[in-house]
Amino acid sequence: MGRPAGVGLWGSVPADTRRTLYIQLAGIVFVTLLCVHNLLELLSSDYGRGSADGVGSWVWRAETTYSWTNFGGRVKESGVKKEPGPNPEAASLPPFNLDCTAAQFLESVATGSRNGVRDGPFHTDCQLYNYTSSEACGVLSSFDSILVFGESHERHFVQGLFSLLRNNTRGMGGLQNWRVPPGSDVDKQCQGEEAFEEKDCRWVVLTTTDHMGPETFTADELAPLNVMHEFCPGYLPPTIKSIYSYKPERVNIRYTNSILAHHPRSVLLYGWGFHAGLDSARALQYLITPMDQLAQEYPETTQVVLSRHSAQANRPEQYEATQGNGIIRKYNEEIGGNITWMNEQRPGVRPIYYYDMYNLTKEASSFDGSHYGLRVGLLKAQVTINFLDRLRHELGFAPRFTKF
Ligand SMILES: *[C@@H]1O[C@H](CO)[C@@H](O)[C@H](O)[C@H]1NC(C)=O
Ligand SMILES: *[C@@H]1O[C@H](CO)[C@@H](O)[C@H](O)[C@H]1NC(C)=O
Ligand SMILES: *[C@@H]1O[C@H](CO)[C@@H](O)[C@H](O)[C@H]1NC(C)=O
Ligand SMILES: *[C@@H]1O[C@H](CO)[C@@H](O)[C@H](O)[C@H]1NC(C)=O
Repeated sequence: MGRPAGVGLWGSVPADTRRTLYIQLAGIVFVTLLCVHNLLELLSSDYGRGSADGVGSWVWRAETTYSWTNFGGRVKESGVKKEPGPNPEAASLPPFNLDCTAAQFLESVATGSRNGVRDGPFHTDCQLYNYTSSEACGVLSSFDSILVFGESHERHFVQGLFSLLRNNTRGMGGLQNWRVPPGSDVDKQCQGEEAFEEKDCRWVVLTTTDHMGPETFTADELAPLNVMHEFCPGYLPPTIKSIYSYKPERVNIRYTNSILAHHPRSVLLYGWGFHAGLDSARALQYLITPMDQLAQEYPETTQVVLSRHSAQANRPEQYEATQGNGIIRKYNEEIGGNITWMNEQRPGVRPIYYYDMYNLTKEASSFDGSHYGLRVGLLKAQVTINFLDRLRHELGFAPRFTKF
C-alpha cells in the first residue's frame, strides 16, 4: 500500500477507502435531494382532494403556488402550478335538500306507499330524488366502503346498486358482463329484469368492486379491459364488498374488522331472515349484536339493518305459513322494535338505522312471489343514495375526486 496522500487524520485514510467514502457520500446527498424533491412535489400537488365544507358545494383547488430552492436558498424554480380544474367527468351533486334528516328519510320510506297503484311510483313524505349514476358515485365517494351482508335480498340489493352506479339498467350492469361471451346463453338470458331472476345469471353476479380490478382478467378469451377505470369516472370509486350467506352465524367479524380498520368511513348494510324461519331472536343474537359491537369501535362507521321484503300472491302456497306476510311483518316489527330500543339505551351514540322495505315492495310485482327484479333493485339503490347523501352532510364527509 502506498504512502497516504494529504495530511492529518483524513490523510491517513487509504486512497481506496476515501474513494469509497466519497461515492457513498455522493449517494447519500443524491437520495436526500430526491426525497426533498418528491416531498415538494407532494406538497405542491392537490391530488384527489375536494374541500371538506360539508354542505355539498366544493371546489377543486385549481392553482397551487410553489417554489423549489437549492441549498443556500437560491430559488431554482417557482410559479403557479395549474391543476386540471374541476374534473369534467365528475358531475356536481344536486343541491342538497334539507327537508328531512337521514333518519327521518328512512322513516318516510318505511311509511311510504304506491297509493294502490301496482308497480306505480313510490311516494314518501321526504323528497325521493332520482340520482344519476355520476351523482350516486359522488355520494358514495364520500365514504370509504359499502359492505353488505345477508341472503338473496342483499345480493339483489348489490345488483341494483351496481346497475345504478354503472348507468347500465337495460343490460348487465349488476353482472360481470365482461366475463360473458357474446351470444352465449347467459348473454341472451341475463339482461335487464332477467338478470335478477335467472339462476343461470348467478355465476356472474357482480358482488364486489374487487371483481373489477385488472387481476380479474385472466381467462384468455376475454379482453383485458380495466373496468375499474370506467367505473364512476371523475370520482374516487367506492369500494363495495358483499357477502352472501345462508346463516347469520357465518358473519365474519374478523374479516369485517380487517376492512373497517382501513376503511373507517364505511357503511355496513346487513339483514337476514328467510333461511331459518324468520327468527328475529337469532338474527339479533348472531348478526345484529356482533356487528353492532364491532361498529362501536369505529365511530365513523354507519350501520343500516335491512328488513325483509313483503311477499306477493304468486308465492308458492306451501310457503304461506312459514314465509307469508303475517310472519314477515312480525319479524320486521321485532327487528325494528329492538333497534329502536337499543338506540334509546344509549343516547349520544350513533344510532343503528333501520331500512324497512316492506311498504316499498308491497305493491310491486315479484317474479316468484318473494324476490323482485331490476325496477325494485334500482329503487332500493336510489333510497340508499338519498339516505347516504343526507347522512354525509350530517357527518361532514365530502366527495372525493380523481384526475383520471
Ligand atoms: C305501510 O303503509 C301502510 C299504508 O299503506 C301503513 O298503514 C303502514 O303503517 C305502513 N308501514 C309502516 C311500517 O309504517
Ligand atoms: C324516478 O325514476 C323512476 C323510474 O324511472 C320513476 O318512476 C320516478 O317517477 C322518478 N322519480 C322522480 C321524482 O323523477
Ligand atoms: C346514462 O345512460 C344514458 C343512456 O342510457 C345516457 O343518456 C346518460 O347520459 C348516461 N348518464 C351518465 C351520467 O352517464
Ligand atoms: C325484540 O326481539 C324479541 C325476540 O326476537 C321479541 O320477542 C321482542 O318483542 C322484540 N322487542 C321489541 C320491542 O320489538
